Amino acid sequence: MVELIRSTSELKVRRATLNTQKVGLVPTMGNLHRGHASLVQASVNRNEVTIVTIFVNPKQFGPNEDFHRYPRTLEDDLELLDRVSNGRPCLVYAPETTQDIYPDGFDTTISLGELSRPLCGKFRPGHFDGVATVVYRLFSITRPHSAYFGAKDFQQLAIIRRMVLDLDIPVEIISMPIIRDHDGLALSSRNQYLDKDDRQLALKLPSTLTLSAQLFKECHHNTTDRKLTNFIKESLADSQVEWQYLDILDASTLRPPSAATQEWVIAGAMKVGKTRLIDNITVQKK
Ligand code: PAF
Repeated sequence: MVELIRSTSELKVRRATLNTQKVGLVPTMGNLHRGHASLVQASVNRNEVTIVTIFVNPKQFGPNEDFHRYPRTLEDDLELLDRVSNGRPCLVYAPETTQDIYPDGFDTTISLGELSRPLCGKFRPGHFDGVATVVYRLFSITRPHSAYFGAKDFQQLAIIRRMVLDLDIPVEIISMPIIRDHDGLALSSRNQYLDKDDRQLALKLPSTLTLSAQLFKECHHNTTDRKLTNFIKESLADSQVEWQYLDILDASTLRPPSAATQEWVIAGAMKVGKTRLIDNITVQKK
């Protein structure tokens, strides 16, 4: 049972009618795929009402990024949500205008610290401040008990967990596993920018991460192991794709691993033509 809401004022009124019902939030930028469906499914299973937000957030795009061409497919999204929610209450908040989220005079940006600096933070200045600002705003408007995020955006997830802790926001953050296509590519709305040849090249991202993880385990988590560092160096030198990073970090601090590290994230970002893709694999201490 999908109910479309197009303005913040309407959403606030509707939210107030939910009283004590358990609410799960799935924030998205639309163009929904099986990855999003898995988040909605999880929320629908665990909550009385699910709110899915669809908003392409201008604050998280850089000046030369794909804000204008980002796919906007509301009709298809509603169909998918109708199927996935399977008769359970699902409010879809797709604000008609940017002003609905950022009214005239809006002048606040969340300024993040260390977690926003490595990985994507190095290549997308201001991106995570924009993400945190919109997520905070969506939390305030929808007042969910829990919110669902995909593990593909590993750094985003770490930042949101930290923000919720630091600002004492009463929302449980739930991380859902990466969903991959048959060929191993992590699902992303940006995959549709790839033509057949690009897609072949893009597969270097998951395959390199998988091989790095294998070597990393074989060398007993020693990030200075020669075989591992040579493999990473050679991968980054591949001129067919433009790697932005391929890093092994402590999964909770996003800093270089230390003796105390219990979990590592092997994270990569590459550009294939104009399309930027990210992916990661985590490795636990046994
Ligand atoms: O992961 C996304 O789709 C976006 O970054 C989010 C969390 C919806 C904020 O715009």
